Amino acid sequence: MRQTLKKGLFITVEGIEGAGKTTNLNFIRSILEEGGEEVLMTREPGGTPMAEEVRELLLRPREETVSSTAELLLMFAARAQHLEQKIRPAIDRGVHVLSDRFTDATYAYQGGGRGLSWEMIHDLEKMVQADFKPDLTLLLRIDPEAGMARARKRGALDRFEQEKLEFYFRVQEGYMKRVAEDPGRFLVVDAQKSLEDVQATIAQELAAKLVS
Ligand code: TMP
Repeated sequence: MRQTLKKGLFITVEGIEGAGKTTNLNFIRSILEEGGEEVLMTREPGGTPMAEEVRELLLRPREETVSSTAELLLMFAARAQHLEQKIRPAIDRGVHVLSDRFTDATYAYQGGGRGLSWEMIHDLEKMVQADFKPDLTLLLRIDPEAGMARARKRGALDRFEQEKLEFYFRVQEGYMKRVAEDPGRFLVVDAQKSLEDVQATIAQELAAKLVS
């Protein structure tokens, strides 16, 4: 794997709350680092000081009703900053970037969850990213009831985690629509299997996808 691994890959991990993104992000990182690769871990919304401030704006529960369009634009504002200041420079240096969420989350949450039009999201994606997209996206699939039960155990809920279960079913559908649009980019893993099974699948598929 060491000699033939492609350089400067952009890998993203997606899934609804409670799907186990953090554990599996760390697992992917350890596989790459054991292969002698340099990895930059990041997240969305966030990843730079300014984008982290936008994250705080987006996640904080508030009395005021939040416009879905404002939410969408803030996601892409944070992404523009993140992409320009952190992701692209690292990739240009040949460093692999591993991100906890990216634009598929916008299609899933603002498109699927909030019901905003796919076309509007697509237009913003083009404006902010042109043709830039992840080389590989791991989608961890979990039943929304099981995912939310796990997320609720973690403590105070952010603005998204306070949404009803139906919202998360729509988010999951949004993710599956993305997979159908670009199946070659996704690795969809059943996150309800044992961690051992999940990680065996990830290791196998990662090796196959990333070696040229
Ligand atoms: P998390 O990174 O801790 O999962 O929290 C980020 C939250 O933001 C999560 O509920 C998903 C949501 N989100 C969107 O709604 N749209 C997006 O484009 C991104 C990146 C995240």
